[in-house]
Amino acid sequence: MNVLVAGGTGFIGTNLCAELRDRGHAVTALSRNPDPTSVPEGVETAMGDAQAYDSIAETVADHDAVINLVSLSPLYQPPSGTSHEEVHLQGTENLVRAAEEGGTDRFVQMSGLGVDPDAPTAFLRAKGQAEEVVRDSSLAWTIFCPSVVFGDGAEFVEFTKKLTTPYLTGLPGGGKTPFQPIWVGDLVPMLADALEDDRHIGKRYEIGGPEVLTMKRVAELAYEAEGKFLTVLPVPMALAKLGLTVAGPVPFIPFGPDQARSLKVDNTVDDNDIAAFGRTEDELRTLEEYLGLTPSSSPAHAEAV
Ligand SMILES: NC(=O)c1ccc[n+]([C@@H]2O[C@H](COP(=O)([O-])OP(=O)(O)OC[C@H]3O[C@@H](n4cnc5c(N)ncnc54)[C@H](OP(=O)(O)O)[C@@H]3O)[C@@H](O)[C@H]2O)c1
Repeated sequence: MNVLVAGGTGFIGTNLCAELRDRGHAVTALSRNPDPTSVPEGVETAMGDAQAYDSIAETVADHDAVINLVSLSPLYQPPSGTSHEEVHLQGTENLVRAAEEGGTDRFVQMSGLGVDPDAPTAFLRAKGQAEEVVRDSSLAWTIFCPSVVFGDGAEFVEFTKKLTTPYLTGLPGGGKTPFQPIWVGDLVPMLADALEDDRHIGKRYEIGGPEVLTMKRVAELAYEAEGKFLTVLPVPMALAKLGLTVAGPVPFIPFGPDQARSLKVDNTVDDNDIAAFGRTEDELRTLEEYLGLTPSSSPAHAEAV
């Protein structure tokens, strides 16, 4: 298959491009500023801005399938001049329209847990509206909603460290919000399977990792992996909402009320749809295994260290 991975130069994108290439597909990674040396060998690059229809239409039409991984991080305030609505909603509208008009039938949309057109944050609202655009299209779509994803180059574990200082720290709400982190090496084969098997068309999958961890626990593990220990002091969510607390003892990071609200949203799954890909939670890689804090239970994961 001739696959276009929009956002293919990012964290999940580079891993997915390698997986698709290894399965024998012709893969192109599209982004605004693609650096050919940053994508896996054998993967082509294409320049295009999902927010500018004319810059992507021809490239989309040249492919059999599109996977939309175009992203603006929900963890930081968007840089001035851009917004979640523009990147996630308009970007998706343009990719869907380009696929419909260009005859590119297959479309995989990367969404997230807790997305909803009426959700409490701009990121979740834009992602929820983008899902509606995909569902209402004439395309053969599949939607993925994973919890946070970890692996080399991932943002979330590093982000928890930015919000904290070793030994003594404050996290919004005491860091009690639950997450169900999944390793990128477990996620990308499911995305590739979805593309290859028509039984996944018209399905929306909520995907979680093998265990539920609070944000506090993720931060503790990240420091433990460096031989440091963390004591988390609860910081009232009301203060965190003002975007004040986290800038305290750590260097300033662009973290505002919307980001604080996002840390209150449960990021776990009720029914883990990894089953649709023949996977069970006990065979997925844990964050502790990835960080080298416990031995890997699976030989495949041990090799990946
Ligand atoms: N990482 C996670 O924990 C996680 C969890 C759940 C869901 N997701 C979802 O998974 C997807 C991928 O996430 P990720 O972590 O891999 O993101 P990422 O590392 O930030 O990569 C984002 C990609 O999008 C490209 N991009 C951004 N704006 C663009 C635009 N206007 N036009 C074209 N390309 C653009 C970036 O390249 P340029 O900057 O060069 O354009 C980059 O290739 C997103 O939809 C995200 O919401 C991620």
